[in-house]
Amino acid sequence: MNRKDRRAQEKAQEKAKARTSPTVKISAVAEALKAQGMALKAAGKEAQAIPLLIEALKADATLADVHFTLAMMARGKADLKIDMDAINRAVANKKLLCTSYLVILNILKGKKQYREAMVCQEELCRLMPDDMDEKANLALLYNLAGQREKALIALAEIIAVKPEEKKYRGVFLNILGPVTLQQHEPLLKLTLQGCFDNIYEANLNKAYALWIKLVISDPECSDLQEAERLIEQADFENWIDNHHPRDLNFLHCRFFLDGLRLMILNDVVLEQFLTRLRRWICLNAEKIANTSQIEALENFICALGEQCFFNEYIFAQTPEEEEAVETLIRLLQNRSASGPSRLQTCAIVSCYKPLIDVFPDNATEFSELAANHPAFKNLVAAQFNAPAEEREIKSRLESFGFLEDDTSRKVQQQYEEHPYPRWISINNYPTPNDDLPFAPDLRFKPYKILVAGCGTGRHAISTAACYPNARVTAIDLSRTSLAYAQRKANESGLANRLRFLHADILSMKEWDGRFDIIESSGVLHHMQDPFKGWQTLNDLLVTGGYFKVGLYSELARQQIVEARNFVAQGGYPATDAGIRQCRSDILSLPRDNPMRQKLISFTDFFSTSLLRDLIFHVQEHRMTLPQIDDMMKRLNLTCISLNMTIPEIVNRYDKMFPQDLARCNLLNWHEFEQKFPDTFAGMYQFWCKKIA
Ligand SMILES: C[S@@+](CC[C@H](N)C(=O)[O-])C[C@H]1O[C@@H](n2cnc3c(N)ncnc32)[C@H](O)[C@@H]1O
Repeated sequence: MNRKDRRAQEKAQEKAKARTSPTVKISAVAEALKAQGMALKAAGKEAQAIPLLIEALKADATLADVHFTLAMMARGKADLKIDMDAINRAVANKKLLCTSYLVILNILKGKKQYREAMVCQEELCRLMPDDMDEKANLALLYNLAGQREKALIALAEIIAVKPEEKKYRGVFLNILGPVTLQQHEPLLKLTLQGCFDNIYEANLNKAYALWIKLVISDPECSDLQEAERLIEQADFENWIDNHHPRDLNFLHCRFFLDGLRLMILNDVVLEQFLTRLRRWICLNAEKIANTSQIEALENFICALGEQCFFNEYIFAQTPEEEEAVETLIRLLQNRSASGPSRLQTCAIVSCYKPLIDVFPDNATEFSELAANHPAFKNLVAAQFNAPAEEREIKSRLESFGFLEDDTSRKVQQQYEEHPYPRWISINNYPTPNDDLPFAPDLRFKPYKILVAGCGTGRHAISTAACYPNARVTAIDLSRTSLAYAQRKANESGLANRLRFLHADILSMKEWDGRFDIIESSGVLHHMQDPFKGWQTLNDLLVTGGYFKVGLYSELARQQIVEARNFVAQGGYPATDAGIRQCRSDILSLPRDNPMRQKLISFTDFFSTSLLRDLIFHVQEHRMTLPQIDDMMKRLNLTCISLNMTIPEIVNRYDKMFPQDLARCNLLNWHEFEQKFPDTFAGMYQFWCKKIA
């Protein structure tokens, strides 16, 4: 500081002291300090400007532009104490203060200082008690700070006040994950039921963990608490014989039945219990026909039929059941079952085979039976109407180019037989995690986007929802998957901005046109040469364009490699029956077997196409982060964001690498992964930018 500056500072501080004098107006002192501080800042002398600006705030806490300037100067500095001091002293004008809080909050969030941001956000919520967006932001911060239950309850409270605001349900579902509930939380149940009632708005993908906790603790499902004990017992049949289904509360609990319809079960105990119950119903179908027992079971059987279709008939079945189902089918074909028992018999069959496969010509009958039966109507919609529509769409899909190599042909066959994945809902109300996390403003540009390897379309449709002015081209090898995707796009109302094409990534070298964004998640590692596939796509990306890629981790998939060997050694065919058999054998391993433990922790273990993808895949490459780093360099791509949204992992990484604010240094992550090899159990997911 030169002499002139020092003099200026002393003068300003003298003025500040004078604010206690009644003869000097406080605002005049503040204004003088502010002018002085601003001038120093303009001259690039931030270190001198800061104390003056803080003094100005002490004199007048309502100077929003001073808050703003301080906050801006704090950007990029590790120590944010000055902002917090300023905040803590600023108490006068609420409206102006809010501006300052908002600015500072953004900076704190940018610096990943979630706990400090939480304090600031709580203050903001106190100042703006009616602003639900700010309350939702607070909930998001709780979640980022690792307090998921608190976050969920805060969001549930907002949703209770504003049930018509769909976005809050989207946020609620988006932050779901493993939860520990001390007790049953009726408010969370009510909120999740609201999500079930509005499934086309938001993604239920992560809802299972909360649902099962709520079900187990729910007084309305208390009879289910016997499940664990019962599956261990040989006398399951006695138990069910001795309990009239009318009296078993979970069979009539809407929350339980909706969960069964809308989410793939992810829980071995519940699965085994339902498998036994299904067997009992199937083997006793003729005995209980036309009784009050089957009547009381009707809605449950329809919901179970939806579950079985959704998980692609992955529950274990015995030869007796298979025989009994064939008998029931014959009965129906001979029209021996009539009236309600016909509906009930169809519902039982649907728990083993899709209605469309068994009765492809019975559309009229199903619609008549469904007319006055909401549960059967849902079942017919899922198992008959939707697949019928897909078959029709499949016959008129567009194609581009040819399948280029043998691997493409094998991979195509896999996904024709088992399109991946079967899904119900996406998030139509994107939150910052869903779009370009580093530049949310770009979301509204009229981008051209390519989704390469779109499967059944969940990803491509989410992308179309996320970028409201974009046009999305989505390609895949599997026509069956594409037909599913097109049907879901029609249902979502976004079909006019989506184009689904049957094409091999490799044939896209002939494509005439460029894309601003390309996304390819879980695809390149299924090609014969992933780098060649990546390069072909990268050539279609404009310079400055964004590439989102998802690739398997070598480190995280060690137990999957073991499971793949188990499949190879066991010689299990990749058919429904082969996959079921392999799965039963895995479940029969001792409970502490590490491979068994690992596999049952994957959602993919609980549906046929997902499990085939996980451990039966015809082609799989796994990679390390240094290898990916190298590929990115060769492709002139720079990693700008690594999609890691699990707060526990993020917080751990921040502690290990506090300087890497963008969290996208792949070599740091490599070090981290070696220490915590499960980090990328799903996949590595990156956003990259093409630099030349
Ligand atoms: C595991 S699935 C992922 C689907 C989707 N990206 C998702 O995340 O839901 C892999 C998909 O990539 C497709 N695929 C694999 N190789 C491909 C290629 N060479 N060209 C086009 N699609 C390909 C498969 O047909 C399959 O649908």
